[in-house]
Amino acid sequence: MCGIVGYIGNREKKEILINGLRELEYRGYDSAGIAVLKNNEIESFKATGKLTNLEEKTKEFTSIGYGIGIGHTRWATHGKPTEINAHPHAGSCSYVVHNGIIENYREIKKYLEEKGVIFLSQTDTEVIVHLFEDNLKTNCSTFAAFEKTVSELHGAFAVLLITAQEPDKIFFVKNSVPLIIAKNEENEIFFGSADAPLIGNATNAYYLEDGEYGFISQKELKLYNNRKEKLPKFKSLAQDKSYAQKDGFRFFMEKEIYEQSSVMTEALMGRVKENQILLDEIPDGFLNDINDIKICACGTSYHASLTAGYILERVAKIKTSVEIASEFRYKNPLLTKETLFVVVSQSGETADTLEALKIAKNAGLKTLSICNVDNSSIVRLANANILTRTGIEKGVASTKTFATQVAILWLFALFIAQHKKTIDQKTLQKEIDVVLSIPNVLKIENQTHEKIKRLSKRYLHGHGFFFIGRDIFYPLALEGALKLKEISYLHAEGYPAGEMKHGPIALVDSELFTIALLSKTTLFEKTKSNIEELSARDATILIISPEDFDIADDFVKTKYSDHQMREFFEMMVVTQLFALEVAIRLGNDVDMPRNLAKSVTVE
Ligand code: AGP
Repeated sequence: MCGIVGYIGNREKKEILINGLRELEYRGYDSAGIAVLKNNEIESFKATGKLTNLEEKTKEFTSIGYGIGIGHTRWATHGKPTEINAHPHAGSCSYVVHNGIIENYREIKKYLEEKGVIFLSQTDTEVIVHLFEDNLKTNCSTFAAFEKTVSELHGAFAVLLITAQEPDKIFFVKNSVPLIIAKNEENEIFFGSADAPLIGNATNAYYLEDGEYGFISQKELKLYNNRKEKLPKFKSLAQDKSYAQKDGFRFFMEKEIYEQSSVMTEALMGRVKENQILLDEIPDGFLNDINDIKICACGTSYHASLTAGYILERVAKIKTSVEIASEFRYKNPLLTKETLFVVVSQSGETADTLEALKIAKNAGLKTLSICNVDNSSIVRLANANILTRTGIEKGVASTKTFATQVAILWLFALFIAQHKKTIDQKTLQKEIDVVLSIPNVLKIENQTHEKIKRLSKRYLHGHGFFFIGRDIFYPLALEGALKLKEISYLHAEGYPAGEMKHGPIALVDSELFTIALLSKTTLFEKTKSNIEELSARDATILIISPEDFDIADDFVKTKYSDHQMREFFEMMVVTQLFALEVAIRLGNDVDMPRNLAKSVTVE
């Protein structure tokens, strides 16, 4: 995810900005840039890759003495990770940095292009600076032009803008994406998209709220919401950097579980419009002549793919097979050109998945990747790509990646259904409403986490875990078991609930823990019977369900819903928190479990 910094003061701005960006490196980025306004002139530098490349470019540049500056690390979402697409983006006398997504950037771009504005980048961000300069022509003050610009943007955004017209001010706005203003006793002013770059520099901070915008100089801070002036309440800033990088959570994995709601908002942004699914990444005609789909992936990405297998056949009415990439590679698969070959990968570098993609491409199949890292080997190779926009995932055990992969695959299924007209408008509208409710479903209630934390103490021993579920709750059971074994080192298996009686039930006794995903929307009575079969053999059972079931030894209650995907995402969070709390109690390094690597680039 992108990072933002800003500074007003007398110190060397390039150092403050680049050091600030370094504190945000943990968020992941593929390019970086700064712009410094001093003596009425703005100088800007951008570089792809690591911050050392930006340092190299700014080697000869100095900016001591009073001035202002903004900086940015970019994680590509709109347009490739190139220098032109890196921020800051420039107009004729202004520069902007931005986190988030401008949903209506196409409309704004078209409007400005018709007026003769020339765009250099492929980003949504560039429209902000040109729209601002266009508004400058018709508004009486710089701030009025900024305020008008802000009112014309839709989406999620944190923005800093500087302009030679007002050489002592930074203009800012925050909407659904974090942005913090901080200051110190020397009257220096700092901006950050997280605490980390502010710590050690500033003493007090104001965490902007959604919809707030304004400007700041060393003389004044003006803050507004809906054109009404507000008074900011600064509070003292925590001073522990590593704590700040984890946003106060104990582990990155915990932070990533909690950020799934906001990450999901970003993943969906611009892809769901009132009554239709828009996937601009799929070229026109791409789905023509496609009869079936084959998906290949590994690990968590494989579980997301298995989930999609159910949805694609049910919603899009298209035959779908899902294979583990390492198996697919060596089976001499029979491939036909009417098959769309899809690979799913967080890193885009997984060797087995990449090789599977090569096999399909060489056989002349159309290929699509669902991936989190732009410009990765898989993205470069596939014919089309849908980025999951999950931001960097630091925890080796994937959590938010799984959530966005499932959501994007679900959108893809709806997109095909729309294209093939296998869904009527009313059902599509209902699905869209459910899709848009998922960020809310992913919000974690304190009492749920507390309950899981408490009950986890009873699951630290025993001779194994079975996670069971039916339909899409079966791949979720596989993923729940994978999470637990990755970070707790306890033996756990995911199983289809109806399959237990065909062998695994022989293992059942009171020391065998069963985590049952009991959906109310999907095969409720059938799954219930399967749980009863295990209970009759004295298994210790934790049931995750909206419906109370008296044979449960432990119970985590989820919300009633009329749609299986809402249940799916809520239960997903419960299984993630369960794995996390068991592993923490066992004293394990949750973020870096033994024997595992984040990106598996070997066979
Ligand atoms: C999941 O927690 C693991 N990190 C692992 O299974 C991972 O999903 C797998 O190695 C595939 O990685 P990819 O998504 O980057 O291709």
